[in-house]
Amino acid sequence: MADPGSSGGAGATRVAIIMDGNGRWAAERGLPVLEGHRRGSEAMKQTVKDAAALGIRELTVYAFSTENWSRPADEVAGLMEMFAELIASETPELDAEGVRMRFVGRRSGVSPALLERMEWAEATTAGNDTMTLFVAFNYGGRAEILDAAERYRGGGEQRFAELLYAPEMSDPDLVIRTSGEQRLSNFLLWQSAYSELHFSDRLWPDFRRADLEAALQEYASRRRRFGARE
Ligand code: IPE
Ligand code: IPE
Ligand code: MG
Repeated sequence: MADPGSSGGAGATRVAIIMDGNGRWAAERGLPVLEGHRRGSEAMKQTVKDAAALGIRELTVYAFSTENWSRPADEVAGLMEMFAELIASETPELDAEGVRMRFVGRRSGVSPALLERMEWAEATTAGNDTMTLFVAFNYGGRAEILDAAERYRGGGEQRFAELLYAPEMSDPDLVIRTSGEQRLSNFLLWQSAYSELHFSDRLWPDFRRADLEAALQEYASRRRRFGARE
């Protein structure tokens, strides 16, 4: 769906990131995969701050996909524990910085304790408006479209989009993927129809403000046409 809210050329204000490469970062150093995820979470915390400072209004981060459940049980368990701790430790600071948090994804399959924390974080930060941080967790683009399709009763793209996990989420101007992989891996399939794509070779734990700035700078030179003749 063409999004007249931002037509490119200027700054990207809606950015989505596929934070990839934690496993390779750890493997390169002979460290356990969970250490890669821990360092990845540090990069995420800093990136949220950098994004707000750079004027991004909506940041969506891909934290855990519907396919990631197929990883080894100890990796999945470690990730779940890390998410629960991260939400508890980071929410007060994000709240103080004016960040509103929203989780997008299937709620079924997520443990009740983690769900409770997610809902607490959303409720705590609901009134904030500096930036919205959408955390894609137990998220799959196909699952999202299927879940919406079950409730869709006609009315066109606008009506359909209202049935997605976060109807208030704008289509991203820019989708960034780290680690050199060039695919969407089931991320924001509906919303990224006309997003610009930026692929960074940086492994996620090594992603820094300069990398985000480089992506935003490249975006500023793109010409978005949304199918029209210029
Ligand atoms: C991304 O890093 C984090 C999650 C998918 C949770 P990976 O764990 O996919 O890192 P690589 O791709 O194995 O390097
Ligand atoms: C996508 O990365 C999911 C997240 C970053 C959370 P994956 O590492 O799971 O994707 P594939 O398997 O390389 O496509
Ligand atoms: Mg990966």
